[in-house]
Amino acid sequence: MAGMSFDLVIFGGTGDLAWRKLLPALLQAHRHGTLPPQGRIIGVARDELSDAAWRALIGERLAAVDSDKRPSAEEFERFAQLLHYQRMDLTRPEDYAQLKGRLAERNADVVVMYLATAPQLFTVACEQLGAAGLATPNTRVVLEKPLGHDLESNRAINAAVRGVFSERQVFRIDHYLGKPSVQNLLALRFGNALFEPLWRRETIASIEITIAEQLGVEGRGAFYDQTGALRDMVQNHALQLLCAIAMEPPINAHADAIRDEKLKVLRSLVPWTQATLAQDVVRGQYAAGMLAGQRVRGYRDEDGVAPDSRTETFVALRASIANWRWAGVPFYIRTGKRLAAHEAHIAIHLRAAPHAIYRTPLCGTNRLDIHLQPRDGLTLHLFASASETRSSSAQAAHAAAGAAPALTPVQLDLDFEQRFGAERVGAYERLLLDVIAGRLNLFVRADEQEAAWQWVEPIMQAWDEQNARGEGPRPYAAGTWGPGAASALVARDGNTWVEEC
Ligand code: BG6
Repeated sequence: MAGMSFDLVIFGGTGDLAWRKLLPALLQAHRHGTLPPQGRIIGVARDELSDAAWRALIGERLAAVDSDKRPSAEEFERFAQLLHYQRMDLTRPEDYAQLKGRLAERNADVVVMYLATAPQLFTVACEQLGAAGLATPNTRVVLEKPLGHDLESNRAINAAVRGVFSERQVFRIDHYLGKPSVQNLLALRFGNALFEPLWRRETIASIEITIAEQLGVEGRGAFYDQTGALRDMVQNHALQLLCAIAMEPPINAHADAIRDEKLKVLRSLVPWTQATLAQDVVRGQYAAGMLAGQRVRGYRDEDGVAPDSRTETFVALRASIANWRWAGVPFYIRTGKRLAAHEAHIAIHLRAAPHAIYRTPLCGTNRLDIHLQPRDGLTLHLFASASETRSSSAQAAHAAAGAAPALTPVQLDLDFEQRFGAERVGAYERLLLDVIAGRLNLFVRADEQEAAWQWVEPIMQAWDEQNARGEGPRPYAAGTWGPGAASALVARDGNTWVEEC
């Protein structure tokens, strides 16, 4: 990709996503020499700004990022040469004509239209790009979530995009797929023969996917109140993780081979019934509480949130997959804001030994923890005999003759950050480089997205009905692990969440 030229147009160039994620990621890629040097980054927004003014704003923002990512003055100077700005109202055809003129100055090998705008603008932006002749074969379009708020609106967006771009030009972002930990999950499963024979119902008792945040709604109250945790996290990030865990080995590493397998998982999710909606889904909303020694306010007191809001900030659910590999294995998904820890992991709980000749400790089965963040690594929980140590021998001497010997839990630990350190590429950096290079592996295809909406939609409908009856989400104190009903959900199957072990 070194000799390739590109124009990356960021619609929403003065928005939150551009400041917080895209421009810092592009800076890192530029710094590490992975961004093709023949490139322009063109910010597009309604504000009246010159190139110099946009550069200056970016400079201010980048000066505030973590110190190890902050650019020196010379570094920023070099990066700033890539930055350009174009004022645009996305509904005005004449503004697209101007953009076209600007792009024609270079005639770059690849043109990326990154729609980092409100999703209501996706349809009009795609239609206008098409009408202006800006959807050429070397154009790629990047769509940021949320892509709609239900199946119907998602289909409408996909139809509008399809009217202008072919599927291979469309890059739907789920930034979880760009995380190094998720790449490692796929490498663990499909780059090693060790786990595959075990990766099935015969060996695995249950699977837990937890994405816990300590953050609240962080200035996005108005957006979040219309969205909620199910649409914000479950429909996309959590289900993509579930696919990565549950999919069959793809026939090769090409985008469609991977996406075909993920789609099969989504289509195998057992649809909801009245009974499972009532028993297997918990929604919660945080109330005031203590987090890291600080008192934090409740969700309904956040700016932009309705004082009687029934929007969920927590979801726990039990999903089932109807296929030969996973029949009967519960997949528990849990995500929420203002929880006790910032922690995302997948825990694979293995079945108990079929015949116990040892006394096992509490939670006495093997478990593989896949740590996604803030730590990125693996822990395999095993049992060892500690009877050779002096203290254990003393205990054994006192134990009744004939009592089964006790086991001690031990762990095998792998820390990818220690192993790969600074070499690792952040999620947005990876995804942006993949868009420029035209690699679709880590992007979500329209049919996957629609299948995911289709599966969550009955939950949304059930909650609307509950709301109409005056039943809202269960409150939980900020700084806890969510409503007690989430523990009861897994306890019904005789299971526990990882932190309860
Ligand atoms: C975003 C959600 O998609 O993911 C946010 O809109 C959430 O609400 C964020 O905080 C979590 O991402 P990460 O990478 O911080 O786990």
